This record gives sequence, C-alpha cells and structure tokens, in this order.
Amino acid sequence: MTMNSKLMVGNWKMNGSLAANASLLSEISSGLRETSCRVAVCVPALYLAQAQNLLAGSLVAWGAQDVSTHESGAYTGEVSANMLRDFAVRYAIVGHSERRQYHGETDDVVATKAQRALAAGITPIVCVGESLAEREAGQTEAVVKRQLAAVIHANGHCISEIVVAYEPVWAIGTGLTASPEQAQSVHAVLRAQLQAATAQADRVSILYGGSMNAANAASLLAQPDVDGGLIGGASLKAPDFLSMLKAASR
Ligand code: PGA
Repeated sequence: MTMNSKLMVGNWKMNGSLAANASLLSEISSGLRETSCRVAVCVPALYLAQAQNLLAGSLVAWGAQDVSTHESGAYTGEVSANMLRDFAVRYAIVGHSERRQYHGETDDVVATKAQRALAAGITPIVCVGESLAEREAGQTEAVVKRQLAAVIHANGHCISEIVVAYEPVWAIGTGLTASPEQAQSVHAVLRAQLQAATAQADRVSILYGGSMNAANAASLLAQPDVDGGLIGGASLKAPDFLSMLKAASR
C-alpha cells in the first residue's frame, strides 16, 4: 500500500477532437469539486497544448500516451520527452500493450522510454500485463516481473519515481475485468519486486487497468495494493469518470 492518495488516469487513446475534448474536460473540471484523489488525463500528443490551456491551475493533470526513446534528431514522427516537458506534461504512459503489440515495443524499448521521461522530469506510467494465453499457461507472474525488471534495471534508484500500471491484456477494452482478487495478487507481486529494488517502494502507485468502470471501480480500489486506475473507454464519458473519481476519493 502506498501512503499517497489514489491516482486515477484517463487514457484517451486515439479518441477526441478539439470540440469533444473541450466539452469533456469542462464537464470533468466542473464535476470535480469534492475529489481528493489525484487525477490526470493522457491525451493524444496533438492535444497537449489544448489540455494545458484548459487544465492549467485545475485539479486535473495532463499526460502523454507515449514518448520517444531518442532525445532529438532524425526520427520522423516521434515526440521527445523535452517536447512533452514544453507543455508541462506530468505523466507519460510507456509500454502500453497496444504499443507493445502493434509497434513492436520490447521490454528494453519500454525501459529506455521510462528513462527518457524521468530525465525530463515526467513521471512514466509503466504498463505491464499478460495475455490470455500467458495467464492460461500459468505465466502471469513471470511475464509481469520480466517486464518490470527491465525498467528497474535501466532506472536504478529513480525507480521510486515511476508509476506502474497492471493491465492484463485480456481485460483491455473487452469488458472482462480482472477480479479484485486477481488484481490484488499481481499487484502484491509487483510491490514485492519494487520493495526488493528500492527502500522507497511505498512511494510507487500501482494502478489497475482493463475495463475498469463505474460499477467495478470501488471493489478494485478497495484492494490494499491497488493504488488507482488507468482507465480507457470509461474515461471518455464524464459521468462515468467522475463517479470513478468519487470511488477513489473515499
Ligand atoms: P479500457 O482500457 O479501460 O478501455 O479497458 C484501459 C487501457 O488500455 O489503458
């Protein structure tokens, strides 16, 4: 368990438009008064300037969904950590399963991305998680430990500055949520691995992600090692997201 308040992060993925973002963010900001959890939205890179304009001075932080492994140079299409910092980005998701799956990101690539973010003063939200086949083969623990180990190895004592998100691949966008017990048991494994790496493991928030919604958030968040959520689909609907923030603020 961390001593921090819960952290709830919306992952918009490749959704939104200037008009839709403006109304979603204004609904979220105006509904937020009572919240005591930490809140962020990770928006498509093009909309970071808009998020900064609309959210500066509010309770909602903003973040990116990816960051380049490179510092600068001939890498067409990439966005560097320093560019993200120009827009006062607090978080960058790294190693989301969709990046691992569709863009061939390896554990080492993800570890380097975490390093770039940390060096720019941005908190990487490091995603780990097993596929259905891996879970059925009894490899869940080995897979998430391997994924996190690469990030620990590359980042040394800075590891206490990261956020981890456990996102079972079979639960993402499928409506199949991990049970609170399944989530807790993996989170406990990750917590122990962080404890072995740093005396400050209690500073690290371990989020659950994968079909978290307004109906199941409270029971997941009640688990001792579930420190918050990384929320895709349900973060695009202001009433749902707000009710999850409320569940995280109890
Ligand atoms: P989901 O996505 O909530 O739509 O399942 C979560 C994620 O991929 O971060």
